Amino acid sequence: MTIRSNNFIGDVRKRKTGAQYKKKLIEVAIPLEVINAAAVREKSIRHGHPSTLHLWWARRPLAACRAVLFAQLVDDPSSNPDKFPTEAAVEEERKRLFAIIEELVKWENSTNEEVLERARAEIRASCGGELPPVYDPFSGGGSIPLEAQRLGLPAYGSDLNPVAVMIGKAMIEIPPKFKNMEPIHPSIKDRSFYRNAEGLAEDVKHYGEWMREKAFERIGHLYPKVDLPQEHGGGKATVIAWIWARTVPSPDPAFADVHVPIASSFLLSSKKGREAWIDPVVDRASKSITYEIRTGGSKNDWAKAKEGTKQRRGAHFRCLMSGTVITPDYVKKAGKSGEMGQSLLAIVAEGKGGRKYVAPNEAHVHTAFSDRAAKVAKEGRETFLSGETPARLTGGTCHGYGLDEWGKLFTDRQLVALNTFSDLVHEARVQIEADALADGMNPDPTPLREGGKGAKAYAEAVSVYLGFIVDKCSDYWSSICSWGTF
Ligand SMILES: C[S@@+](CC[C@H](N)C(=O)[O-])C[C@H]1O[C@@H](n2cnc3c(N)ncnc32)[C@H](O)[C@@H]1O
Repeated sequence: MTIRSNNFIGDVRKRKTGAQYKKKLIEVAIPLEVINAAAVREKSIRHGHPSTLHLWWARRPLAACRAVLFAQLVDDPSSNPDKFPTEAAVEEERKRLFAIIEELVKWENSTNEEVLERARAEIRASCGGELPPVYDPFSGGGSIPLEAQRLGLPAYGSDLNPVAVMIGKAMIEIPPKFKNMEPIHPSIKDRSFYRNAEGLAEDVKHYGEWMREKAFERIGHLYPKVDLPQEHGGGKATVIAWIWARTVPSPDPAFADVHVPIASSFLLSSKKGREAWIDPVVDRASKSITYEIRTGGSKNDWAKAKEGTKQRRGAHFRCLMSGTVITPDYVKKAGKSGEMGQSLLAIVAEGKGGRKYVAPNEAHVHTAFSDRAAKVAKEGRETFLSGETPARLTGGTCHGYGLDEWGKLFTDRQLVALNTFSDLVHEARVQIEADALADGMNPDPTPLREGGKGAKAYAEAVSVYLGFIVDKCSDYWSSICSWGTF
């Protein structure tokens, strides 16, 4: 994103007010409780929240950004003694400004033009009739430029990290370029008026589905359906997850040839009335562990399942065969020496009336490790995924467990899928440009990065969001992704 200059807010204040220093509202008082409550509420809003576009760390709540921008730009009434000569008049005016903030921070009012316009009018009144530019030099997930833009202020941001810059562009820069445009994809039937970024969003959805269909043609065979047991109505169902656990050789010499699971939970669903969990069936005589699915049960069953093979103490586990304690060091040693394995514990399928949990079967284990998948994965691991994972990281790292290269964070099948989808982002871009031209869009070949607005730039814009989908997938389609039991 373009960086114009530093310290815009300070500059504007000096320029507009001359030598006389005018205090801004934020320097005197802001309605903290109201802002905090709106910020807390916002945390629970997932659908349609800009933060769900792409993960970024330490995002500031949008409500707080909006309020802080407003309070930084609007004068405190005590700065205008001509208009507010008494303490009572100052207090009254502050109350009025607080009421504006109270409305401004509400999530429902994020697109309420009336409320936003009221805030803009106050900013103009304090900034010499202008809406001054705002620049966040460490913009990260882009909350501050986004809220500045919402308040009508020319917004700028920058960041050291290119991913953050891309998020900022996708959130702030690209949508206004293609504002109020109809979608270009050929199958669109509803040619009614599209507001703001609705047309762009419609195309992202369409070409995202296009990618899914193409991917299914190419790698669908790696994702076979599962046979549902009779109690789930029989027939075949689409699998939505395979639940694996990493395994290590039992630390008990009597069972050293048996791999035991390191499972932090066996619970599959904690949803009321739909409780389900994995029940490991241990046969010491034949030295085997198989996994059954149980449903219903009692609080005790669920609590026990929730423990997996964890010990209450620290990061210790227990051997399912012998009960021997498995220490973190033992797990790390197994990981580093290549002795760590994996076991399929359960399959989650999409059945009629909701998720169905099915016991693992050998055919599904084999499909996950097909020779073709292994070949593609090997290539990836030896090339662009050969880099080292961080050895130290706030919150912990997998490095010490032998997962010391990026390629080791994915199963063979996951790598095949990620490769397929990232190839498809490029193919989609070509397809979008062709469809846009066929739809009569401006054939200007200027790319998006050079300010283009034609078919080429549009195809690039849509593919930015498609690329974000692959980013999100690489988070969920990794071997360190855990199963949410909700
Ligand atoms: C706390 S985050 C900002 C979060 C942002 N305000 C939001 O709400 O999403 C801090 C950002 O500063 C960036 N950063 C760190 N050092 C930087 C530098 N020297 N120049 C530019 N950006 C930097 C980081 O990449 C990170 O995205």
